[in-house]
Amino acid sequence: MQPKKVTKIGVLTSGGDSPGMNAAIRAVVRTSLYEGLDVFGIVRGYSGMVDDDIHQMDSRSVANIIQRGGTVLKTARCKEFFTPEGRQKAYENLKKRGIDGLVVIGGDGSFKGAQKFSNEFDIPCIGLPGTIDKDIAGSDFTIGFDTAVNTAVEAIDKIRDTADAHDRLFIVEVMGRDAGYIALHSGIATGAENILIPESSTSIEDLITNLTEKSKRKKLVNLVVVAEGDKVFGGAENVSKTVKERIPEADTRVCILGHIQRGGAPTCLDRLIASRMGYAAVECLVQGRHNVMVGIVNNQMHYTPLDLAVKETQTIDQEWLRIVKILAS
Ligand code: F6P
Repeated sequence: MQPKKVTKIGVLTSGGDSPGMNAAIRAVVRTSLYEGLDVFGIVRGYSGMVDDDIHQMDSRSVANIIQRGGTVLKTARCKEFFTPEGRQKAYENLKKRGIDGLVVIGGDGSFKGAQKFSNEFDIPCIGLPGTIDKDIAGSDFTIGFDTAVNTAVEAIDKIRDTADAHDRLFIVEVMGRDAGYIALHSGIATGAENILIPESSTSIEDLITNLTEKSKRKKLVNLVVVAEGDKVFGGAENVSKTVKERIPEADTRVCILGHIQRGGAPTCLDRLIASRMGYAAVECLVQGRHNVMVGIVNNQMHYTPLDLAVKETQTIDQEWLRIVKILAS
């Protein structure tokens, strides 16, 4: 049986915001209008679906936003949507406007909601990976990752200057609740001596040996980049505590970059992938390719069934870790 033709699309951003979400919204709205579809913005993610905060959008409503961080639709993590009653309310609010297709821009938590919703109701959902963490399988990029990494690199370069001036050991914590990609990429790009990520467990002994050995060789700067989700130590403050206990002579400082990584103008790469993905999401709905996550793999559009997208996680190629070791010697 041919899938039902979609005529009205709803678009929302959900979970943690990420730079480039606006570019994706713009692409969804403009492609929908090009295809002759009505398009509605849903405010504050699934909360807007449950609370009926839904507004029709036109071409002008997405003017001048491609370069802006944050999300003009706002975002939230909505607990009610994870109850059957919440989803029923959300469905009725979409139905009364005739919305028959949904584009969800967010991370894996948002896709879990979309997957449940599309399995229960006759509204197909398309997911776009919007998260700075890059913790979603099925895409080489997620919207916002490149900007976040560049923000982290800029900040860590500055920290290196002051670390160098004082011969200090800096422990910098970057975001990544369960994933070490921001730490890995920003750490390699700034020449960090140690990178601690949840996907590989550097033991306390290994870290201490490495730092002691580097200080014996009078290495000028010692930078440790740690992902907030690192499991061995549990964050930069704990790394610092351990280092102070074991190497009391080290002049150690901690810097937690935090939400600065989530804001700011998206890089060119994030604007491009968001535009491609937003366009592809609408084309999926038009062509009847339903309930998938749109990604980009080897520079080609890639479609992962939502059921799979919520199960798989992005892994880290162990060769990256070898590169870290060799280049920071
Ligand atoms: O998922 C993106 C992310 O920035 C994580 O890296 C971080 O742990 C989390 O969101 C922080 O969420 P919140 O803004 O709700 O504190």
